[in-house]
Amino acid sequence: MSDVTYLKSLLGVHPDFPKKGVTFLDIFPILRDPVAFETLITHLIHHILTTNKDRPEVIVGLDARGFLLGPIIAMRLGAAFVPVRKGGKLPGNVEVVKYEKEYGHDEFEMQAGAIQQGQKCIVIDDLIATGGSASAAGELIKKSGGVTLEYVFIVGLPFLNGHKRLDGPSYWIVEAED
Ligand code: HPA
Repeated sequence: MSDVTYLKSLLGVHPDFPKKGVTFLDIFPILRDPVAFETLITHLIHHILTTNKDRPEVIVGLDARGFLLGPIIAMRLGAAFVPVRKGGKLPGNVEVVKYEKEYGHDEFEMQAGAIQQGQKCIVIDDLIATGGSASAAGELIKKSGGVTLEYVFIVGLPFLNGHKRLDGPSYWIVEAED
């Protein structure tokens, strides 16, 4: 079985969660299986190193499931890990970007000075849906003086066109159908 088929077979599928009409795709069964988790991380590292001619210097993980993947990838690459958190969670001076969610607005923050001028960054999250949170993270990187090489996800929902809102290339391992 290919890596992609294996990882896809482990995704949890939850119709009508967290609300009616949404089918929630759950990555936690992958993390519960150490061989699958290792396969996932190795797949992502291989992708990042073969696709980007510049070696990433910063892995930016999105609140909250991006925090479970980003630090592992960062350590494997010898890169920094920087979290993007929901508003009001990070101490010290922060950069703030507002973004639209299905219902109303939310805020994403990054610690000021976390990214150095010109540093090459990769954004990581478990899933791209409408792309609102990933594009907000891209704005935070730009505000901080960084450059986004790529947006990387485990699952893509390309029929929602979220990737078209991003200011750089994107990649997902598994594609979900609508
Ligand atoms: N899984 C995880 N996060 C999400 C999903 C999903 O299916 N849809 C929107 N955000």
